Amino acid sequence: MQTRTLGRTGPAVSALGLGAMGMSGAYGAADRTESIATVHAALEAGVTLIDTGDFYAMGHNELLLAEALHGRDRDSYALSVKFGMLRGPGHEFGGTDARPEAVKNFLAYSLTRLGTDHIDIYRPARLDPAVPIEETVGAIAEMIDAGHVRHVGLSEVDAATIRRAHAVHPIADLQIEYSLLSRAVEADILPTLRELGIGLTAYGVLSRGLISGHWSTDRAAPGDIRGSSPRFSSGNVEHNLALVEALRRVAEEKGCTVAQLAIAWVAAQGSDVGDIVPLVGARTRGRLAEALPAVELDLTADDLAEIEKAVPAGAARGDRYPPAFMSTLGAGN
Ligand SMILES: NC(=O)c1ccc[n+]([C@@H]2O[C@H](COP(=O)([O-])OP(=O)(O)OC[C@H]3O[C@@H](n4cnc5c(N)ncnc54)[C@H](OP(=O)(O)O)[C@@H]3O)[C@@H](O)[C@H]2O)c1
Repeated sequence: MQTRTLGRTGPAVSALGLGAMGMSGAYGAADRTESIATVHAALEAGVTLIDTGDFYAMGHNELLLAEALHGRDRDSYALSVKFGMLRGPGHEFGGTDARPEAVKNFLAYSLTRLGTDHIDIYRPARLDPAVPIEETVGAIAEMIDAGHVRHVGLSEVDAATIRRAHAVHPIADLQIEYSLLSRAVEADILPTLRELGIGLTAYGVLSRGLISGHWSTDRAAPGDIRGSSPRFSSGNVEHNLALVEALRRVAEEKGCTVAQLAIAWVAAQGSDVGDIVPLVGARTRGRLAEALPAVELDLTADDLAEIEKAVPAGAARGDRYPPAFMSTLGAGN
């Protein structure tokens, strides 16, 4: 597995990261034994970046990772942890808290659940509109000085916020949705990251499975957040799946799968400077095995032009989040 250095000051990590959210039920029930086997298979394949959030099923995801990572050399992988999203007993989302005292509180709980003495990249999941980003980043920087955190990351913030945060402490990476269907980052955010020397860890590279080549309209199951996603909703999903079929024709010519082509496309957007690391949300060893070779796939200029023709920028129908969440994002669709 190739490696990438996240930004000018961030850690060196594998060219493909593993996101663990789906292992805690975001996409319907997940199998705990298979989830743990998937983490092990990823580590064995050379994946060294693992992403989680303390609010993924209220700590369930961190406890799962603690079990999966138990006994492993702590320096052999990097943990990226998001914090700040508030939830209630019914699992409903209730805003964001990124006050300095909340940063330290969330961190203490995450360190305990993860069974580790440090987090490699710690990031607020969303901007807290009531707290200047300088205060949140300042608190994480204090935790770096105290040895509990190694690097500051950001998630779903706009270019102006990235600049303000970076002025307080160097930012390793921004985590943001980036895929063939979600290209808003290309306008201001990507140039800002490159100017400041900040990496990008791209999530939703398969648009949550929509452009994996495995989605069909009869797949939405109870508890699966895709059931409330505008891109998966009736009227939009048919249009979006027609884009996938166009992509499938390009993949067949290239001799790869649709998912591999979609992941390789994201990786290729940073290939000349090595500043983009796709995070894949595989929750089974089968999906992981499909995703891993994608970062070795070499896309030529002709391939990229064919992909662009199949799925032009802005071709997706439907927002990337339900209406209540759209205003919390750093970029549009
Ligand atoms: N910063 C943020 O705001 C934010 C937001 C969301 C996620 N994230 C992070 O990013 C990670 C990845 O995001 P995501 O899970 O939404 O994105 P994704 O990789 O676009 O979608 C993952 C889903 O795609 C399906 N899939 C089909 N083929 C696959 C393959 N070969 N490899 C992997 N998945 C395949 C799987 O669903 P089935 O198993 O049902 O087929 C899987 O659960 C998350 O786990 C989380 O750590 C961050």
